[in-house]
Amino acid sequence: MMAQLSGKSIYLTGGASGIGKAVAEEFIQEGAVITILDKSVDGLNLLKEQFGEAVQCIEGDVTNYEDHEKAVNKAVETYGKLDVFVANAGVFDGFAKFNHVTAEAMSSAYDLLFNINVKGYFNGAKASVDELKKTAGNMIFTVSGSGFYPDGGGVWYTASKHAQIGLMRQLAFELAPDIRVNAVAPGGTLTALNVIPPLQPFVKSVDNETKANSIKLRNPLRIAMSSEDHVAAYTLLASNKSRAITGEVISSDGGLGVRGLS
Ligand SMILES: NC(=O)c1ccc[n+]([C@@H]2O[C@H](COP(=O)([O-])OP(=O)(O)OC[C@H]3O[C@@H](n4cnc5c(N)ncnc54)[C@H](O)[C@@H]3O)[C@@H](O)[C@H]2O)c1
Repeated sequence: MMAQLSGKSIYLTGGASGIGKAVAEEFIQEGAVITILDKSVDGLNLLKEQFGEAVQCIEGDVTNYEDHEKAVNKAVETYGKLDVFVANAGVFDGFAKFNHVTAEAMSSAYDLLFNINVKGYFNGAKASVDELKKTAGNMIFTVSGSGFYPDGGGVWYTASKHAQIGLMRQLAFELAPDIRVNAVAPGGTLTALNVIPPLQPFVKSVDNETKANSIKLRNPLRIAMSSEDHVAAYTLLASNKSRAITGEVISSDGGLGVRGLS
């Protein structure tokens, strides 16, 4: 069977771990070459060892616009073009309760989390838009069930995921007919997603088994999802087969939308 992303040049943020890493692996298997921006040097070194020429790694921070520009320039220099931008790097609030957090921590948590989760997506979209226009390319945002429902995180994470969906929809409107913009909304997934420092004192740490059980109980399909469970949705949106889809979110969450009251 012909690879679905043959020859595509993809720029992905947060590819050194978790969902981003699984997406990178799948995209490479489907024939793509990838440029990854991440702040984890160790994670990036492992990626390079694993994927060699199919991947190029840029160490940087999604909150700096210049780091995205560097990544896009490198993708175009090395692979000749850019077809897809995947905005994925993110951080978590650990379900910290608004009422329990001091005003000072509330404010620094807002600045830190919104800068990464929301401004990071604005920055990547802006840096890649001109190159994506040349290839009639597309953008994919990793959002979350928290972009629709409460109790997938605390107020910081939930509000940031709603904001990402707003950004995705407005961009899909403004960038049509040249560029498609869509999102994937994973449900709770077993990854190393970090709780930001200002909220750590207000959050209980949980072991992986407790986390897996809690994720299972929240979705009707009773799945403790792994990163690999979501990759098919990204491949569909990145490929030419989805040329009629824009402004949409594919939920990959074990059925959060049909969980009812039980
Ligand atoms: N794990 C879940 O339950 C879950 C559920 C729904 C959505 N998501 C979303 O999936 C995305 C990926 O998260 P994950 O769960 O794979 O976590 P992860 O921690 O395994 O991966 C996140 C990656 O982003 C990188 N990163 C974080 N901040 C960065 C910054 N400022 N600059 C550059 N790189 C940075 C990290 O180094 C890491 O490699 C996030 O947008 C997250 O909100 C996660």
